[in-house]
Amino acid sequence: MLSSQTNDTEKRDSLHGHWSSRMAFVLAVTGSAVGLGNIWKFPYVVGQNGGGAFVLVYLACVAIIGLPVMMAEILMGRRGRRNPIATMALLGAEEGKSQNWRWVGSMGVLAGVLILSFYSVIGGWTLSYVFKSASGMFANATAAEITSIRDGFTGSWTTVALYHTLFMTLTIFVVARGVERGLEQAVRLMVPALLLLMLVLLGYSISSGYFSEGLSFLFTPDFDKLTWDTVLAAMGQAFFTLSIGMGAVMAYGAYLPKETSIIGASATVAAADTMIAILAGLVIFPLVFANGLDPADGPGLVFITLPIAFGHMQGGVFFATVFFVLLSFAAWTSAISLMEPAVAWIVEKFNRTRAQAAVMIGLLIWAAGFGTALSFNVLSDFKFWRGTIFDNLDYLTINIMLPLGGVLIVIFAGWVMCRNATSDELGSSGAIYKLWRFLSRYVAPVGILFVFLKAIGLLPDLS
Ligand code: TRP
Repeated sequence: MLSSQTNDTEKRDSLHGHWSSRMAFVLAVTGSAVGLGNIWKFPYVVGQNGGGAFVLVYLACVAIIGLPVMMAEILMGRRGRRNPIATMALLGAEEGKSQNWRWVGSMGVLAGVLILSFYSVIGGWTLSYVFKSASGMFANATAAEITSIRDGFTGSWTTVALYHTLFMTLTIFVVARGVERGLEQAVRLMVPALLLLMLVLLGYSISSGYFSEGLSFLFTPDFDKLTWDTVLAAMGQAFFTLSIGMGAVMAYGAYLPKETSIIGASATVAAADTMIAILAGLVIFPLVFANGLDPADGPGLVFITLPIAFGHMQGGVFFATVFFVLLSFAAWTSAISLMEPAVAWIVEKFNRTRAQAAVMIGLLIWAAGFGTALSFNVLSDFKFWRGTIFDNLDYLTINIMLPLGGVLIVIFAGWVMCRNATSDELGSSGAIYKLWRFLSRYVAPVGILFVFLKAIGLLPDLS
């Protein structure tokens, strides 16, 4: 089958159409990257892992591991022009190597399904806060009142499941219609608007009187707080927030026109994504300290801090509603990309329509989501390994599957693909290309594997 698909990569095309422009691609990948990872996850993992030192490791991981992996994913996607599983099989065969690389694609598809199963529950939580905000229930509420509103929400499994269902329905809807339609406009509006509202919140945070405490928590590294598990969490967060390690960006790369610069697009996305995460940290930590909250509170942290801020702000009901609408949008554009590899795979492999594939995969994810929806209430005491079902899914996907997928992807791009193929896609053979190749062949694989093996205790301590 593969021999009939000649090496002529110029003529190879995607079944699913193309992005209408370079900008559309950058917007779509930004839409995928910017999401709950930046605003919900980043602050609470920073809080749980002690602050500054974690942030520093995270930033280093984005720059020296995340960026090369992202570039590798996009270039592989564009060269293969297929879903990640087929792309890796095809490119492997083209280089005269094993088609078994497709299993990396398969692991990615599975990771996407598992991640979306909990992502959708948190996305639903965000949606529910649109209505709570609009009803004015946060206005002038105390920290204790807002905490009990949150506990009321998470405590009711039917409510959690209802909003999870709503979120999944919205996601299936867009994926069924095709990734590009509507997404471009949504992201074009959402990212600047989100940025603007974050700046409004920042203003409030600065006025809280605890800004310098927040700042020093975020940026003063205390290396005693670092363990290998913390370093792994920082690396996992870098993968999660950039949407890399599972083929989402690879799937989007398959629809990328030939002339677009992969290097420029990756750098733009990583910069925007990092900026929004840091901004979220700058907003949230001063509020944590001003209200005597615990930075290590966990997944509910933003659902307490931000309502408190909005509750005490002029026009807070309006701003809070708009903010949670935007955050829901951001989560939605990310959720779409989590489903895309699985859906593209079903469409190509089993000849289904996008709508059929989206509904099939969507229902599977929706059902799996109950594991997480129940983790906050009925099954909150059902704990094994890392904790609740949600804790386990979170650890398994973010700390294990994404770094593992990432390391295999850079090894593929750096060692399996020939120099000509990668330099052709990256459109350069100069210094930046050499740097990318060095990072992809040596720094990223060694770095990821080292941290990984250390954290799971397979490498002994020398000291
Ligand atoms: N990056 C998104 C966020 O920060 C989540 C996400 C979307 C993702 N697509 C992904 C994470 C693919 C890992 C892999 O919210």
